[in-house]
Amino acid sequence: MADQPDAIALLKADHRKVEDLFEQFEKASGEGRKQKIALEICLELTVHAQIEEEIFYPACTGKIDEDLVKEAYVEHDGAKVLIAEIEAGAPSDEFYDAKVKVLSEQIEHHVEEEEKRGEGIFAQAKKAGLDMDAIGAELAARKQALIANYKSSGTPKPETTTFTEVTV
Ligand SMILES: [Fe+2]
Ligand SMILES: [Fe+2]
Repeated sequence: MADQPDAIALLKADHRKVEDLFEQFEKASGEGRKQKIALEICLELTVHAQIEEEIFYPACTGKIDEDLVKEAYVEHDGAKVLIAEIEAGAPSDEFYDAKVKVLSEQIEHHVEEEEKRGEGIFAQAKKAGLDMDAIGAELAARKQALIANYKSSGTPKPETTTFTEVTV
């Protein structure tokens, strides 16, 4: 469908939205407002990571640099730990703002690994000839379903995919 974003456009739009939310958080004052923005960041990132892990990364696996995809899963898991902390915490907590800031820095790095010109995950996936329209449609449908679900029943506690050795 012509009016549907392809996979890369959809994922990039998610990245821009979260960057904007992080900026809003930095400027926000008042604990209620901060918490509202932080929880929106957590919801957006949870859904984004989930659709990438369920649909986009598996489509890339075997077609692009394997190390890069593995690192992306691990970077998601690192972010999920902070997301869980932020969701369980409150803006009055001593380290709340620091956790949101460090999450934004981790995400900035991760987004760069995905979007880097020529060699990032998206560029490699494009070169590998993935069907971005079909994957985009799948991502959009799954995203819509997850957001509806999480908005009605709450964002689930993040589950890590690659952190299997210890519980901290
Ligand atoms: Fe992403
Ligand atoms: Fe990602």
